[in-house]
Amino acid sequence: SSILILNGPNLNMLGRREPGIYGRASLDDIRDACVQKATALGLSADFRQSNHEGELVGWIQEAAGRFDGIIINAAAYTHTSVALRDALLAVALPAIEVHLSNIHAREDFRRHSYLGPAVRGMVAGFGAQSYLLAIDAIAHILNETTD
Ligand code: DQA
Repeated sequence: SSILILNGPNLNMLGRREPGIYGRASLDDIRDACVQKATALGLSADFRQSNHEGELVGWIQEAAGRFDGIIINAAAYTHTSVALRDALLAVALPAIEVHLSNIHAREDFRRHSYLGPAVRGMVAGFGAQSYLLAIDAIAHILNETTD
């Protein structure tokens, strides 16, 4: 199986961006860890980042038929984007939402996710490890649907 791992705005600045909240790992570090984890579970992973909502919507639409599942850290678009939610609902692939930080322990506006109804579940608060936990979860979901 193959999974698409999507990253939203400002995540290209990880490592330099508010390291007290988001940690010292760069997005390249997280990509390497994700690819390694996915490979160990027999999955192939395509890891992408965009600062543009429409590009993310396009990637989700194109995932239909090409990928078996989606992991998404929509970053600030989590809290603003009906379009990303609708795209995830449209392709109907199993999807998991991830966040580096615990979005429930920060400003009130981060506590609401538009993606909530479009994903199987959410992992937040474990830094880069959130992505690896989400890969475990999606591997579990994909195994259930194949056996
Ligand atoms: C984030 C949390 C969001 O609230 C924020 O806008 C981000 C990153 C996280 O991974 O913790 O950019 O998605």
